[in-house]
Amino acid sequence: MRTQVAIIGAGPAGMFLAHLLRADGIDALVIERRDRSYVEGRVRAGVLEQATVGLMRRLGLADRLEREGMVHRGTNLSLDGRMFHIDMAALTGGSTVTVYGQQEVMRDLFDAAQVRGLEIAWNAADVALHELDGTRPFVTWRDADGAARRVDCDFVVGCDGYHGVSRASLPADVRRTFERVYPFGWLGILAEVPPVEDELVYANHERGFALASMRSATRSRYYVQCGLDEDVADWPDERFWDELCLRLGPETGARVTRGASFEKTIAPLRSFVSEPMRWGRLFLAGDAAHIVPPTGAKGMNLAVSDVTMLGEALAGHYRGQGDAGIDGYSARALARVWKAERFSWWFTSVTHRFPTMDGFDRRIQMAELDYIRGSEAAQRTLAENYVGLPLTGGVSSEAV
Ligand code: APR
Ligand code: PHB
Repeated sequence: MRTQVAIIGAGPAGMFLAHLLRADGIDALVIERRDRSYVEGRVRAGVLEQATVGLMRRLGLADRLEREGMVHRGTNLSLDGRMFHIDMAALTGGSTVTVYGQQEVMRDLFDAAQVRGLEIAWNAADVALHELDGTRPFVTWRDADGAARRVDCDFVVGCDGYHGVSRASLPADVRRTFERVYPFGWLGILAEVPPVEDELVYANHERGFALASMRSATRSRYYVQCGLDEDVADWPDERFWDELCLRLGPETGARVTRGASFEKTIAPLRSFVSEPMRWGRLFLAGDAAHIVPPTGAKGMNLAVSDVTMLGEALAGHYRGQGDAGIDGYSARALARVWKAERFSWWFTSVTHRFPTMDGFDRRIQMAELDYIRGSEAAQRTLAENYVGLPLTGGVSSEAV
């Protein structure tokens, strides 16, 4: 088999890239370890930056998003039960975010892939990348029947997430990683109940962080910060609702509609970046290159901005416009990645309870949130990061 671009992984990064390349007439094959229902079934965040919505429109993937997505012009912060609103649209010249679950995005990407005949090799085992530093790279795997498969290509793009094989294909002496592991996790539930507020609530409470989010007018997504050693079995629904309401405070907590949860999982929080994002004929995009903690919901949006830049670079190459785009991809992507890393780290730092926090740290945190409450400048900084920074170039720290 031969293709122009072999894409490893059919998550958001891989599937958005496959659609982008198709729109530019570039041939691609997506090689995915699992099956469609597994990839589509994973419950992840659900806030799309304006640019992500824009890309879905450009790619002709936005019909259901326009009907079912919930446009949010602002968000709420809460400090020890006192909530205040941030009018993101007013602060950013009209930018908004759209609440639409990653599961819905994946369904739209896969449905359109089927209609457009995008090729996906599902259930691919033992995926291995070869000759990445030459001019004729290839990828091998075993298909669902155990048969050995091989595709020759011009480029390989690793979109295989944090646990994939692509990042490890860079030589150890080329790769540098940067990491923060947070001493807590998020316990998240889904429930068929109306959301407590029209927009999200990010709550800093003495007992820990809580987040009130949603999937629709009748479906809520709630999270509470928990210890990493905790077990979902110790969190029956009543305990979860009691804790959530405490952290949202008496006023907001009293308005929460309780109901049976149908999803309950604990996720650890991590910041992680692997540099560079290109080596020879291999490019990395999305979680394969970087992880953000979920505070601010940047994960999928970052995958989208990576592949938007990479799609432009590859299109330039195939149009015969030279390889400046390809050569500049890593630095350009990392410049934006690090800003999203900074924002997600900061938003986590000011909203969560850290086990090592003393009275001084707590008061600094309270002062920072109170400053945001009272300062339009501080609110604008938060808002422009939350709705998504532009995809311009930038100075990368890669060489440092
Ligand atoms: N071979 C082939 N496919 C693989 C391999 C492998 N060795 N390892 C992992 N994969 C597949 C996974 O099964 C998954 O479908 O790669 C895909 C990676 O998808 P994500 O982890 O979703 O990563 P990405 O597309 O970069 O999306 C990033 O989406 O899932 C969220 O938390 C994530 O918000 C982040 C964003
Ligand atoms: C979610 O709805 O799952 C969600 C929303 C906002 C976040 C993180 C997760 O910051």
